[in-house]
Amino acid sequence: MHNHRLSILLCISLLGSAAQSALAAAGAPVQQQAYAVSAVAAGTASSLARTTQLSLVNEQLQQYGQSFEQLTVQVTPETASRLHVKVAPTGQQLWEVPESIVPRPGSEPGLSSSSLQYAVELSQPGQPFGLTVNRKSNGQPIFDTNGHRFIFKDQYIELTTNVPEDADLYGLGEVSLPTGLLLPRDGTVITMWARDLASAMPYVNLYGSHPFYLQINRDGSSHGVLFLNSNGMDVSLNKTSLTYKVIGGLVDLYFFTGPTPEEVIRQYHQVIGAPAMTPYWSLGFHQTRWGYQNISVLEEVVANYTAVDLPLEVVWSDIEYMSTRFWTMEFDEHRYPAAKMKSFVEGLHEQGQHWVAIQDAGVAADKGYKAYEEGTRDRVWITDHKGKDYLGQVWPGKTVYPDYLDNANTSRWLVDNLQHMYDKVPYDGLWLDMNEASNFCSGMQCKPNRRNKTATYWLEVETPRDYNINELIPLRTTCQMSCEEPAADNKWESPPYNIQNFDNTGMRENRQAGLGWKTIAPSALHANGAREYDAHNLYGTAMALEHHAAVEKITGKRPFLLTRSTFPGAGRFTAHWTGDNGVNWENLYMSIAGIINTNMWGMPMVGADICGFADMAFKEGGSPDVIPESSLRELCNRWASLGAFYPFSRNHYAYFTRSHEYYQWPDVAAAAKKAYSLRYQLLSYIYSGFFLAHVKGGTVARPLLFTDPSDVDARNATAQWMMGEALLVSPVVTEATTTIKPHFTAGAWYNAWDNTRMTLSKGQAVELEVPLGDIAVHYRGGAVIPTQPYAKVTRDIRLAPVTLLVTLPAEPAGKSEAAGPLAPYAHEEVCAAAIEENEGQLVSCGLLYMDRGDDIQVSADNTVQVWYTAVSSADGRSGTLSSTIKAHAGDAAGKLRIAAVHILGVPAAEGTAVPAASINGRPLAAAFDETAGVLKISGIELLVGEPLDITWTLGSFSG
Ligand code: NOJ
Repeated sequence: MHNHRLSILLCISLLGSAAQSALAAAGAPVQQQAYAVSAVAAGTASSLARTTQLSLVNEQLQQYGQSFEQLTVQVTPETASRLHVKVAPTGQQLWEVPESIVPRPGSEPGLSSSSLQYAVELSQPGQPFGLTVNRKSNGQPIFDTNGHRFIFKDQYIELTTNVPEDADLYGLGEVSLPTGLLLPRDGTVITMWARDLASAMPYVNLYGSHPFYLQINRDGSSHGVLFLNSNGMDVSLNKTSLTYKVIGGLVDLYFFTGPTPEEVIRQYHQVIGAPAMTPYWSLGFHQTRWGYQNISVLEEVVANYTAVDLPLEVVWSDIEYMSTRFWTMEFDEHRYPAAKMKSFVEGLHEQGQHWVAIQDAGVAADKGYKAYEEGTRDRVWITDHKGKDYLGQVWPGKTVYPDYLDNANTSRWLVDNLQHMYDKVPYDGLWLDMNEASNFCSGMQCKPNRRNKTATYWLEVETPRDYNINELIPLRTTCQMSCEEPAADNKWESPPYNIQNFDNTGMRENRQAGLGWKTIAPSALHANGAREYDAHNLYGTAMALEHHAAVEKITGKRPFLLTRSTFPGAGRFTAHWTGDNGVNWENLYMSIAGIINTNMWGMPMVGADICGFADMAFKEGGSPDVIPESSLRELCNRWASLGAFYPFSRNHYAYFTRSHEYYQWPDVAAAAKKAYSLRYQLLSYIYSGFFLAHVKGGTVARPLLFTDPSDVDARNATAQWMMGEALLVSPVVTEATTTIKPHFTAGAWYNAWDNTRMTLSKGQAVELEVPLGDIAVHYRGGAVIPTQPYAKVTRDIRLAPVTLLVTLPAEPAGKSEAAGPLAPYAHEEVCAAAIEENEGQLVSCGLLYMDRGDDIQVSADNTVQVWYTAVSSADGRSGTLSSTIKAHAGDAAGKLRIAAVHILGVPAAEGTAVPAASINGRPLAAAFDETAGVLKISGIELLVGEPLDITWTLGSFSG
């Protein structure tokens, strides 16, 4: 390391006394400012980028190490709405998030400074460092470090921005907050250090790390900030500011100017990568459990769903399928014989059903195990600080961890072993678990303690054939190895600043566990030289990246992966579930924020374990205080209705939790039947939403406030969510409740069950009766929503005839500009044009996307992409519906047809209704449902690839 003190002196003398007094005059006292601007270099003619040098003028927080003397600030406008600011020590190479995980998009060519929606100000030479980013149109601050210290050391970065007290913040995590979606501003610290901890535990750092936030100002304008850094981090949320404390890497900031929240999210996803397209079948219902002890149990589960006539698209296997030593990718020849499993899975496939298997991060370190022996031969494992394979303990006992970070050996090893598994049983997807990575031991280095015979026995014993899961698992989750304590003088194990990593030994008491607590030691090494200290938060994402490539190669199909640990960019490869939640109402409620946040993080395919994974009261207190059956039944009834609208809908629970498949109770089965029948009718609508997120970035599940960011009350509507542009889900989230008061933003809303309309001139709460077994679901006015008839498997829905629902909006185009609610799809090209061109008319718009369901690439050559626009007279009694065909290729195009159109919200006229409709001049059957106000046009029979032009009127005669 260089001599800091000398250069500080040099620096100060270079700055001279004039600069010193300028520092003092700059608002912030000198003693608070570590850095001053020493030089500004203009950008090149071809680029708007600027470089600024900072010099250390005032060493601070020496307990966290010495500060870098010289820093280079690079300010790069990348697009009109995206600014990149990077601060790094001058002339030094520090760890940064690898391009392999988050490939940076760089700057858009030919960007002009007048097009930028933001203005950046850095202090002048001689002034203390300060960075402000403002919205150019109104000067509103986006980021503002003035008045706060900025510290930059090898293992400690501190950066603070002012945040107006009345602005709302969303999106940092992964954490469960009992308060819901809105981030509290009371000093709460969100810690980012991936951990295997139950998501049922509030406020603690969980499986993923997402240093991104969305800020919505009082006036509804919004922006986003990403601190792209994979090191351990605390973010404290205060009344008027937000502070990052990061223990390594660089300051790598991206600002997104929106101005709508959904635009902010799209702009964010352009940096981290838009989400993978999920296979069509994965939108069906999934059932799994930890503890389906053998294949007969699994077969029974499938049969039970059939018996009660409920849809079951995918059945999963948790760790029980693995061999007797929990060898990942190998089958237990006693409980889950591979040959039997193969015919079971083939049978599922014939029925249009699917099978997904779990994979654990840790690989059993057992002689005679193919994956282990080959991985050892090819040096695939992460090594400890001395270069030996790092040993941890997970289900099999002693395990090693594949090094997924830019390691070609690991890629080959994985393809080979996943192929070996696929040859035995053709899985449809893989579930990546325990990839924080989880370890039941902690230490720089661990090994079996041969002197402790009992411990060694539990570590190495073959799992008994008919093991008692209640006995075995607690012993396997207790560390049975002997581990070298993290050294206090080891900079990776014991960095000077302790992030608030949660220690679950005392449950809610101690938040200062060491970084290596129950994970791979931070001093461990990757083959490319990376330290686990820096790369820890990337483990799950790197694992997902490698599995995605391998599965694509092996199956030749679009992969379906579900991962627990995530980092920005993970959505390019995988879906996510919110982890080990609790069987209680609080967790049902918190799941909504979990689903929405994960969507903001670029993983729209997300769900929580429906009906709850574990009874945490039982686990925490050790008492068998499980939820009484009657309460579980009601909870599960409500959760089935709600979970049917998660993007990823899966019922899952632990072996020690009371059984809660939907068929356990007739009323729960009935609730599920009702909700899933609506979901399944809306699959093409939901899938179209996934397609938009895949090609443009953005969310599928999003907060209601996105429909009208200026509606301040919508920000508290955190027990509801929108699925795409046009579907609002308002579940019951409390016990013994049948009356709810969900919020609706201004506009027209249609009850999805009977299509009746409600028109609100301003956002307001509306009282609704929602008996057990029911759920409030509404369509938003101004949309065109494709629907298809319900069938038990998605295969039978994909090409079924489509009925388009046209929901008339409350206001004609042109009226609701500026501050008012945004029309659905108003930012999509076709819809924007329709809104623009039809001022004074009612415009409804929407997309029908379809493909073969599992092609790897989606393009104009193998998909159907048709936009529908309905333009109706202001009185809503006549209109036209036309299509804009963007793509019509692939087998869907040849088969998918429009059968009917339902216009929702048509007001009846005096006298007898006379509905009429025609297509390209040919008359069509038309009927009017007066109670609901729905005009139903049928007999269309047009392939989606054929141009569609329908006119309709609702006349009347009296007499
Ligand atoms: C932890 C996962 O979060 C849970 O879903 C799974 O059932 C268990 N591991 C057992 O594999």
